Amino acid sequence: MKRVLSGIQPSGTLHLANYFGMMKRMIEYQETSDLFAFIVNYHALTTLHDAKTLKENTTEALIDFVALGLDPDKCTFWVQSDIPEVQELTWILSTITPTGLLERCHGYKDKIAKGISATGGLFTYPVLMAADILIMNSEVIPVGKDQKQHVEVARDIAQKFNNTFGETFILPEPEISETIATLPGLDGQKMSKSHGNTIPIFAEEAEIKKAVMSFVTDSKAIEDPKDKDHPLYTWLQLFASENQFAQNFLDGGVGYGDMKKKLFEVIWEYFKDARSKRDELKNNPDHIQEIRKKGAAKARAVANKIMEEVKKKVGI
Ligand code: TRP
Repeated sequence: MKRVLSGIQPSGTLHLANYFGMMKRMIEYQETSDLFAFIVNYHALTTLHDAKTLKENTTEALIDFVALGLDPDKCTFWVQSDIPEVQELTWILSTITPTGLLERCHGYKDKIAKGISATGGLFTYPVLMAADILIMNSEVIPVGKDQKQHVEVARDIAQKFNNTFGETFILPEPEISETIATLPGLDGQKMSKSHGNTIPIFAEEAEIKKAVMSFVTDSKAIEDPKDKDHPLYTWLQLFASENQFAQNFLDGGVGYGDMKKKLFEVIWEYFKDARSKRDELKNNPDHIQEIRKKGAAKARAVANKIMEEVKKKVGI
């Protein structure tokens, strides 16, 4: 079984593109691979400097993942900072990482362009990500298109380490799903928290309805055929493929308003079980802490074994 690893930032309310872009894939992988899934709170610290929010978001992300179907007994599921060894490895890797490699990273440049302060942490973000990946001997890394370069950097760093100190790390491969590379938001741009065009997975009914009803539309009449690229069609297909309603939307006969109502109904129904599981988990904070503790112990055992070898190789 392949070891598949990916992490998600606890950056606030998770939205539909987080789910279809990453979480759903991970949850499916627990059946077919040796899955390692984690909440990357150290990475979140590059953009979020508010203790209460970071702490809350981390717990929420744990709860949401489990509510959506991640089974901690079928995979290794932990919080990044619960494995402090990852910081030791980050330092060791940083001593062999050419700065030019980091200077070429789009992620860093994009964030600075958005007004995020240019800190050392933001610059060395890919080294920490490489440590995340390499400390668990991961083989396949399912990520969004925007993170592909970071996985390639992890691969370069692994190779550099192996060349310098001898064969140690597996070279990880990114896995990008083309169909979900860019899922459209309410305004038709990529759905992303920073664009403010998202639909939350878990929110009050009225809030989700309001979001869905605000998808941008043009002036086409009910009977006009609609565009296959329209976000409403893309989303309805994702939730319910082979859908006659969606077909009628394309052929003409279904207007934007009805399509929005339909999409809302489908979304609301789709996450029904997850919502009740989430309510249950929220009422049982001890259970979530137990999941967190057990996951950390499992992940730490793997990390420690690799760190022992790394330290021996480098002479520490
Ligand atoms: N940087 C990733 C993101 O923002 C999250 C991440 C951190 C990650 N470490 C990782 C993803 C290791 C995959 C593997 O989406």
